[in-house]
Formats: sequence, structure tokens, C-alpha cells
Amino acid sequence: MAKKQRKILLLPGDGVGPEVVGETKKVINWFNEKKSLDFKIDQDLIGGASIDKHGMPITDEVFYKALESNAVILGACGGPQYDKLEFSKKPERGLLKLRKELKLFANLRPAICFKQLVDSSSLKPEIVSGLDILIVRELTGGIYFGEPRGIEPIENGERKGINTHSYTTKEIQRVARVAFELAAKRKNKVTSCEKSNVMEAGVLWREEVQALRDKEYKKIELNHMLADNCAMQLLRNPKQFDVIVTDNLFGDMLSDEAAMLTGSLGLLPSASLGERDKNGRIKSLYEPVHGSAPDIAGKNISNPIATILSFSMALKYSLDLEKEAVLLDEAVQKVLDKGLRTKDIMSPGKKEISTSDMGDAIISNLH
Ligand code: IPM
Ligand code: MG
Repeated sequence: MAKKQRKILLLPGDGVGPEVVGETKKVINWFNEKKSLDFKIDQDLIGGASIDKHGMPITDEVFYKALESNAVILGACGGPQYDKLEFSKKPERGLLKLRKELKLFANLRPAICFKQLVDSSSLKPEIVSGLDILIVRELTGGIYFGEPRGIEPIENGERKGINTHSYTTKEIQRVARVAFELAAKRKNKVTSCEKSNVMEAGVLWREEVQALRDKEYKKIELNHMLADNCAMQLLRNPKQFDVIVTDNLFGDMLSDEAAMLTGSLGLLPSASLGERDKNGRIKSLYEPVHGSAPDIAGKNISNPIATILSFSMALKYSLDLEKEAVLLDEAVQKVLDKGLRTKDIMSPGKKEISTSDMGDAIISNLH
């Protein structure tokens, strides 16, 4: 029987994206050679890199490639040289278009405090050690995409900026369902965050999440929390959380906060998942949480671990290769145990290594 071929599309993008995706590509190639897997790797442009070549943040050709792939691995989009571009032409639109049109409504952002890095957190070790939270952020709705939107002239030469925040029952329940399913494999605890004290869409969010829990997930402990309180609780006592489910905008902010309190932004992967189709396939995009970091781009000092762990999430969620995912996660742990660190996570007594050396070290620990 022919080997099952899985298509992986690499979209390095901007800033440190090409370096960290480059190291991930080495890891994927290792799996191809040593584990006799048959990943078919393709690579293309997105974000500023695509703007420079094609004048747009993503071309139709790349979009269709993404649509055909089993998993897309993205580096990062954006950089200061594009700040003045009109909104619809900015690098970030490439990423937002992929999320929206592939209908990747559930964004999984784990915030894990690696035991080797407890001291890198700005919080006290006892607050963060052993921390393992999963933020499930709604990714295709809310104020990011709501209509009407725009900037329009009003009287007296003034202007008005408009964005619309709205959610439907379906949009809320499908992401809540993902959160409940994931919680069932963890500590059975979901915290749902909104601003139901000031927003109608927040009231609906709370009611619909609760209704789904009462109907189908009675074993899950569900708490509701106002998003501002959640921001505070994440700093006060982050270990009270297991899975947090929230909307697009609050999820954007809370996930940055959660990532930073682990002290290891350079280590955190993410997965964006769509609905399962008739063939059981799920559309998906994997990316590091850290962004393009233009200030350190091209210096071979960025941390490729977040992107490599994003590939590990792809192995697990899109490629049906759970064992390989565990192998890769363990290789990363071993490298950290040996005291090897890129600059961002360097601390006294450890050995500082480059981006490419980190990639190599992970590969040699896969063997
Ligand atoms: C993220 C980023 C994006 C977002 C940007 C780059 C559009 O901040 O993935 O969290 O706001 O969603
Ligand atoms: Mg963000």
C-alpha cells in the first residue's frame, strides 16, 4: 500500500519567522528520513515577505495551497516598515485572512511553565512552578471581523472609528465545545471570560456557554469570570485555572499575559483549528505565540522552540502522530535539562547557543 502522504505548508513570513521555521523544517526532514514518514513540504510567502514580492500580504495561490494542506506552519507576520500601509494591505491581513477563510475558529494557546525556566518568570517561583493552563481563544468572530467597521468623517472635521463586536449562539457554542472537550482530557475545569457586566454580547456568551455545559458536559466544572478580573487573577493565582475559554479580543490579551507569566514566551506554541470535515480532516494552522520580533531578526539568536513545539502540536492534532509528538516534546525537554539556552531564556550558569544550534541540539536529542 502506498504510504500516506501528508502535505505541510511552511509560511515563514517576517522578522524571525524564516529562522525559526527554518529550524522546524530541519526537524520535519529528520522525521521524514529517520521515521520513514512521508511529509511533503512546500514553502511560500506570507505577510511582509509577500507584500515585497507580490504587493499583497497573501496571494490566492498561497491561500489555495493552505486550503489543500494537512497542516500549515507559520512563522510570524509584520514589521515596522509596513506600519504606514493602509489597513487592508498590512502584513497581518495575510494571517487574518487565513484564520477567517479556513474557518479556524478555535485557537489553542497553552501557557506552560517549563520546570527548567521557573526563575525566568517575573512572578515568584511558587506562583508559577508547575503552571499548565490552556487558553482557548475564539478566532474568527467578535470585534476583529465584525461589521460595520471603518473610519468615517463626521461634523467639525472630526472622524469616527468604528468596530463592531458581535457573537452568535453557534459561534459561541462551537468554541465552548472545543474547550469542554479539551478540559475533559485535563482537569475538567473551564473558566469562561467575557464582560457581561457591560456588554450584551458578553451576557449572551455567558448564557450560551452555560447552556452547552448543562446540556452536554455536566462533568465539567464551569466558572464564569469577567475578563478584567481574569487578567488580575492570572497574576495573583494563575494555578487556579485549567482551561480558559474567551472571545477573540480578550483572548488576544489574556494569552499574551499568560504567556509572559511563564517566563518563556519563546517556548510557547499555538494551534488554530477548524471544524472536522466529512473525511475527518481538520483544517489547521500552527504558529509560535511570540510574533515577528524585528529587533532580533536575522541575527541567529531567536528561539526556535515555540515553532518546533507548534509542529509537535501539528503532529498531534492534524497528522495523527501522537507518539512522534511526544518524542519531539521530550527532545526539547532534554535540551533544556542539559542547560542549553537561546538568548531570550538565558540565565547564569547555562550555556547560550544560537538559533541554528538549538535546532541541531533538538535533532540530536531525537535520536
Ligand atoms: C496574535 C497576534 C495577532 C492578533 C496579530 C498579529 C494580528 O497578536 O496572534 O495574537 O491580534 O490576533
Ligand atoms: Mg496577540
